[in-house]
Amino acid sequence: TTLTFILKDGSRHAVDADGEENLMQVAIFNGVPGIEGACGGFCSCATCHVHVESSHALPPPAADEESMLAGTAARRKKNSRLACQIRITPQLDGLVVRIPERQ
Ligand code: FES
Repeated sequence: TTLTFILKDGSRHAVDADGEENLMQVAIFNGVPGIEGACGGFCSCATCHVHVESSHALPPPAADEESMLAGTAARRKKNSRLACQIRITPQLDGLVVRIPERQ
């Protein structure tokens, strides 16, 4: 499963996501800058905010993700998600997410 992060400077960073449980972990373990994941993936910090740029059909945010998305540091967009709540599945191959200017 190959995923691409678009960094704040516009550069693209492709990583192999196999072995990780969620998108926040993929970013952290691959040293992708701009995703903090301060709460460790428990949906309680919103420092793993990303914008999903590809047209992959993701399960909609659960209520706890919705409430954290209401308080993100960078403005919430329609395609805003918390990376720790995106489970890695083979269907995500080719996913592209953009990292917002701040967390
Ligand atoms: Fe804290 Fe995702 S890592 S909400």
